Amino acid sequence: MKLTKFTDPLPIPPVLKPKWKSKDYTYYEVCMREAKQSLHRDLPKTTIWGYEGIYPGPTIEVKKGEKVFVKWANDLPAKHLFPIDHTVHGAEKEKPDVRTVVHLHGGRTEPASDGYPDAWFTKDYKIKGPFFQNQIYQYFNQQSARALWYHDHAIGVTRLNIYAGLAGFYLIRDDKERSLNLPSGPYEIPLLLQDRSFHVDGSLLYPEQPEKNDSGIFPSIISSFFGDSILVNGKVWPYLEVEPRKYRFRLLNGANSRFFGLSLDSRQLFYQIGTDSGFLERPIGVKRLLLAPAERVDVIVDFTNLEGKMVTLKNDAPTHFPIGDPVDPETTGVVMQFRVNKTLSTIDTAVIPPHLDPIGRLAEQNAWKNRFLELSEEKDQYGRPLLLLDKKKWDDPVTENPIVGSTEVWNFVNTNGDDHPIHVHLVQFQIIDRRPFDVEYFKTTKQIKYTGPTVSADLSELGWKDTVRCPPGQITRIIIPFFPFIGQYVWHCHMLEHEDYEMMRPYIVRPRY
Ligand code: C2O
Ligand code: CU
Repeated sequence: MKLTKFTDPLPIPPVLKPKWKSKDYTYYEVCMREAKQSLHRDLPKTTIWGYEGIYPGPTIEVKKGEKVFVKWANDLPAKHLFPIDHTVHGAEKEKPDVRTVVHLHGGRTEPASDGYPDAWFTKDYKIKGPFFQNQIYQYFNQQSARALWYHDHAIGVTRLNIYAGLAGFYLIRDDKERSLNLPSGPYEIPLLLQDRSFHVDGSLLYPEQPEKNDSGIFPSIISSFFGDSILVNGKVWPYLEVEPRKYRFRLLNGANSRFFGLSLDSRQLFYQIGTDSGFLERPIGVKRLLLAPAERVDVIVDFTNLEGKMVTLKNDAPTHFPIGDPVDPETTGVVMQFRVNKTLSTIDTAVIPPHLDPIGRLAEQNAWKNRFLELSEEKDQYGRPLLLLDKKKWDDPVTENPIVGSTEVWNFVNTNGDDHPIHVHLVQFQIIDRRPFDVEYFKTTKQIKYTGPTVSADLSELGWKDTVRCPPGQITRIIIPFFPFIGQYVWHCHMLEHEDYEMMRPYIVRPRY
């Protein structure tokens, strides 16, 4: 279905109000509900699942060091909006179809509040998973200013729950951020980028099976989802009216599988000031931003002197990155429009600071361990593609078990054709470099033969990260300090169709003694 672009104003998710706030802690309640919401002027209202019944969910804003409790509750109907493939691990027939658990992506969270995929709960709050979990999650927020996001993480149905609308922003603020004099208030705007497809009645379309399906399984998981419409903050191709001044945009790729290669048709630069996990050392000017699922960037765009102009945010990342079809310049190649048609309400005194926050680079020599982890593609017993981490499945015994307080280098050896965004819970890491290697030689001998020089991380990746792109045919190296909690977490590919189908592994942070 083809929808007209730029007919709806960009919605900005409301900031969630706490139920209780004292000097010791803040308490929130968030309930997941089904609701009807207009996602485009010309579409009948769409049934969505949202935190507090809205998609995207309300933004949670906290201060660094603020102790926060959130009671996450599920008041969703018993029937899922989308077809469930019961051959997927954790989604077997005897499990309830509608199961949820919430993960705060990028947060340093204790295990019992981290949203372990098996620690799901249902509407009546029956916790069926084998793992201990808090009924009320606690977040310590001992992290500097950054944009985290919260989203569903229930085993075997994460792709469907997030597709239904279960995602929202979680912003940490601190004094450092305030001292930088960045655009703020109405001039700081979170942008959640996603793709969706629709039926003519306005309902969300999620395929019941791959286009070619010889597996005999129905409904069947697909190996990646790509929608034909681009949504920002839950609206299809919206527009935003702006003043001729600087704006700060907190960009988040919340798509299931789609990468975004973003640029402005005014040929302006984005002044990137931050990555997934806080500020860069200093701003960089970039023409194009590449964002894999779950990656975030913090940018300033300056609309000064552009009175009366329209600026379109475009996408050029091939559908199915990096080897897929080019985007359609009329649809998937367009994200949203900025209209510089508001008058300047006050003088723009915000700045693009020359220095942001110093980032000490971690030294490889200090790593206790160097792990090689293959990202590989095999076939499942029904002949469908099966993507694995280190050739292991979700239920295989834990093999990654760093000691708390130690630092490790993880080498992601990608022998498959996709670029996989790998996310590790609990930690933030730095990207060291990437290097091409001989894939066929590796597959037969398990030996690494490099075929080119190392390429250091992009300038735009030289901050703290929690998600890293691992391009095909390359070894991507990251260095990770593991702290402060011990216990069981997960690491996985953030393409949700991969994550749901075995491209996710448990890992344990072990005590020192
Ligand atoms: Cu964004 Cu394991 O998640
Ligand atoms: Cu993947």
